[in-house]
Amino acid sequence: MRHIEREELKPEESDQLLLLPGGHPPLWNHMDSIGPVGLQQREGAPGCSQEGLPCPSDSSELVLECLQQFKVTETQLQQIQASLLGSMEQALRGQATPASAVRMLPTYVGSTPHGTEQGDFVVLELGATGASLRVLWVTLMGTEGHRMEPQSQEFVIPPEVMLGPGQQLFDFAAHCLSEFLDALPMDKQGLQLGFSFSFPCHQTGLDRSTLISWTKGFRCSGVEGHDVVQLLRDAIERQGAYSIDVFAVVNDTVGTMMGCEPGVGPCEVGLVVDTGTNACYMEEARHVAVLDEDRGRVCISVEWGSFSDDGVLGPVLTTFDHALDRESLNPGAQRFEKMIGGLYLGELVRLVLAHLAQRGVLFGGCTSPALLSRGSILLDHVAEMEDPLAGAARVHALLQDLGLSVGASDAELVQYVCAAVLTRAARLCAAALAAVLSRLQHSREQQMLQIAVATGGRVFERHPSFLSVLQKTVMLLAPQCDVSFIPSVDGGGRGVAMVTAVAARLAAHRRLLEENLAPFRLNHNQLAAVQAQMREAMVKGLRGEASSLRMLPTYVRATPDGTERGDFLALDLGGTNFRVLLVRVTAGGVKITSQVYSIPEDVAQGSGQQLFDRIVDCIVDFQQKQGLSGQSLPLGFTFSFPCRQLGLDQGILLNWTKGFSASDCEGQDVVCLLREAIGRRQAVELNVVAIVNDTVGTMMSCGYEDPRCEVGLIVGTGTNACYMEELRNVAAVAGDSGHMCINMEWGAFGDDGSLDLLRTCFDANVDQASINPGKQSFEKMISGMYLGEIVRHILLRLTSLGVLFRGQQTQRLQTRDIFKTKFLSEIESDSLALRQVRAILEDLGLPLTSDDALMVLEVCQAVSQRAAQLCGAGVAAVVEKIRENRGLEELTVSVGVDGTLYKLHPHFSGLVAATVRELAPRCAVTFLQSEDGSGKGAALVTAVACRLAQMARV
Ligand code: BG6
Ligand code: GLC
Ligand code: GLC
Repeated sequence: MRHIEREELKPEESDQLLLLPGGHPPLWNHMDSIGPVGLQQREGAPGCSQEGLPCPSDSSELVLECLQQFKVTETQLQQIQASLLGSMEQALRGQATPASAVRMLPTYVGSTPHGTEQGDFVVLELGATGASLRVLWVTLMGTEGHRMEPQSQEFVIPPEVMLGPGQQLFDFAAHCLSEFLDALPMDKQGLQLGFSFSFPCHQTGLDRSTLISWTKGFRCSGVEGHDVVQLLRDAIERQGAYSIDVFAVVNDTVGTMMGCEPGVGPCEVGLVVDTGTNACYMEEARHVAVLDEDRGRVCISVEWGSFSDDGVLGPVLTTFDHALDRESLNPGAQRFEKMIGGLYLGELVRLVLAHLAQRGVLFGGCTSPALLSRGSILLDHVAEMEDPLAGAARVHALLQDLGLSVGASDAELVQYVCAAVLTRAARLCAAALAAVLSRLQHSREQQMLQIAVATGGRVFERHPSFLSVLQKTVMLLAPQCDVSFIPSVDGGGRGVAMVTAVAARLAAHRRLLEENLAPFRLNHNQLAAVQAQMREAMVKGLRGEASSLRMLPTYVRATPDGTERGDFLALDLGGTNFRVLLVRVTAGGVKITSQVYSIPEDVAQGSGQQLFDRIVDCIVDFQQKQGLSGQSLPLGFTFSFPCRQLGLDQGILLNWTKGFSASDCEGQDVVCLLREAIGRRQAVELNVVAIVNDTVGTMMSCGYEDPRCEVGLIVGTGTNACYMEELRNVAAVAGDSGHMCINMEWGAFGDDGSLDLLRTCFDANVDQASINPGKQSFEKMISGMYLGEIVRHILLRLTSLGVLFRGQQTQRLQTRDIFKTKFLSEIESDSLALRQVRAILEDLGLPLTSDDALMVLEVCQAVSQRAAQLCGAGVAAVVEKIRENRGLEELTVSVGVDGTLYKLHPHFSGLVAATVRELAPRCAVTFLQSEDGSGKGAALVTAVACRLAQMARV
């Protein structure tokens, strides 16, 4: 027999050990006066101990020893509290935690309710209360109305369903749902359901939750590792009676916390002691490593039931706990829960009573088949037996129902056993709650934490003493916390409805987002149609027929052959930067010296004279800095606007595009305008030899490295392409053999209305606000100057629909061009966390939540994806035309590309290439990024022209 150290039993500790309801004296004080327990022994009766019975004087010792095991000292509680806290913090940090640790599962509930939620909701509760399933109809009245009592119905889940195939369980749930709804007189259109599923789950959204493992009395096959919301949705569909949207899945602790009556201050902890036990609380999101979030709070389900640190629990575990665990459905798991949860309390009492009977201390040393059967004493029995008001007669009756013969002092002893088991449960639960409170106090950095804890579950409802022991122990273990305990409303059903209301609102927002982005999502057929239309427009343009593609001859007849030599000046106007360059082409390669100059918007949109004077000023400055003053080097002019060329050094500006609108230039020869400006600035001599579009400059520049480069592509401020066409196809230029580079000016594609089916209202908004409405349709759907604006218009729309920024329009977002295209590149960068996305947007003065940031990201993705795909459809049309021109089965070709959007956006180039592969499968296309800009190409064109001129002179 174990030696009992009497000196351990100091009065205050014994006081904590067994606090009997109704002011019973503590057992240890009482024990001595119990005296020898009368043994009634029936000879030969079944289930009765015959031999080795203790002599009467041993009996009280035996009871003492037995109940002594349930004693948990304050020191042990503190150790458990500390170990639990450590386990919680480790899990929060995302460090790999053993299955025996607490799990700390984020729940996607980010705020406690505002009280403004309203509407009718169906709540389905599974797993909180033993073998029952509850369906509720909850009406939330918002801030206005009074509280309405929910309607509810409880269904008993047959044991074979709890342990059978998962599909059977969910079908049963769907069946209960429709039975409940059948009986309701309400309108059952558009039913919104919240699913309270009280098992450990990995949530990845408000309506996505994968069961980690069953706990408590459930063990259905085929559910662990699966999304329980999907399983429920499937079952509802199989059932087919009602159309029900499942919007949210929540743990019972979350429902308990969220349903807390408003008005008592923030309730930020939910505590459940029902069949199992667990708590949730609001954690600072920045402390939750698995979340990519640095602001706000998130509700964490602790799942403390799985806590089983042997170091601190080992000394507390009794032989009865070990026996209970061995016989449970999940041996070795949920060790902490098995000392607290209602599913186990009755069982612990039964094991103790059976033990005491077998040792001859109770029931005359006789057991009964019922007493020896698992599950014969339930939580409710414990509640009744423990209730002092029920009196000994009730205890007698219950025990007799179990087939036990109850002696005079048995009832009282049984009450002590119940109290011992319950008291220990309450004290252990207090240690766990104290760990949560310390965590909260620490993370909130508060000296004194004032907090409300919502409590729910049958153990609270049936055992009033549980709460009082819990309260008292929490005060002892967490003296810096001022805790008020608030019983949950409607068993947590109201809280589940609250979460569902929020989830339904978010789902509605998502639908609106999708509706608005749908026109940006182009399918294969749409892209193939763009390719075909482009092809048709190319042919018409080449023939000189009406077409939105001008197909301008460039008088560049060949790509470089490597024999070009000399020093050249180059200008590069029309992209993000204006540059002046010195290009030295030698046998050893090309050397470039360049300088960027600014062309302020008022100059770009002022008078032509002003613009060209500014250009000449920059050239003069550059010459001086490079020691080139007085020299008249041949000059190549990259001029990135549509020009009708009549030769290499003649280019009539057809119209400005992008941000330029300088007056008196359209219809003029740009080379003449430059020469006139040179003339105005006396003492400067320049020899303008060639004017080239940036696409041509880029193709030539890349062609110097790769002779297969026969296409030039720009996706920057604007967009355009050029390629080598058969001269015989070019109506505007005489001659039937050889090639000529054609500047497509594809930015204008669709200006004849051919793209109208694809254009969205946002494209129309951007076009209307631009300086050239009705012009450059294709460019406005693709290039850097416009993508940010498209995104901004979508954001404005979503805000007005209440989907973004809580529906509040900000002045900033109304500002044109505030949303630069470079933000798309930054926001869509894979290496960026969502919080960095938010930081970028906050810098713009947009106050947003994480949900907002995610939606903005999706908007950016949709807009840039469409742009890249349209661009790809254009390239596919070009390379296919080259292939067919040459009558080839397969074409291998390279495309020289430049432009900030193409180069900086993380996915643009990949999407262009993928689209080309899809639409032009017979062309092997290599994309070469131009590193040197188009100035080098302009110099090469100039070099060729000089060589030809020289040859002509000879
Ligand atoms: C540059 C070329 O690298 O890219 C320019 O040198 C071209 O000629 C430009 O116009 C296009 O890109 P962005 O983004 O500057 O318009
Ligand atoms: C179990 C479940 C947990 C639930 C608790 C109370 O511990 O794993 O999710 O909250 O029981 O029902
Ligand atoms: C605009 C211009 C075009 C240029 C393109 C890329 O579309 O009209 O000439 O090539 O922008 O800069």
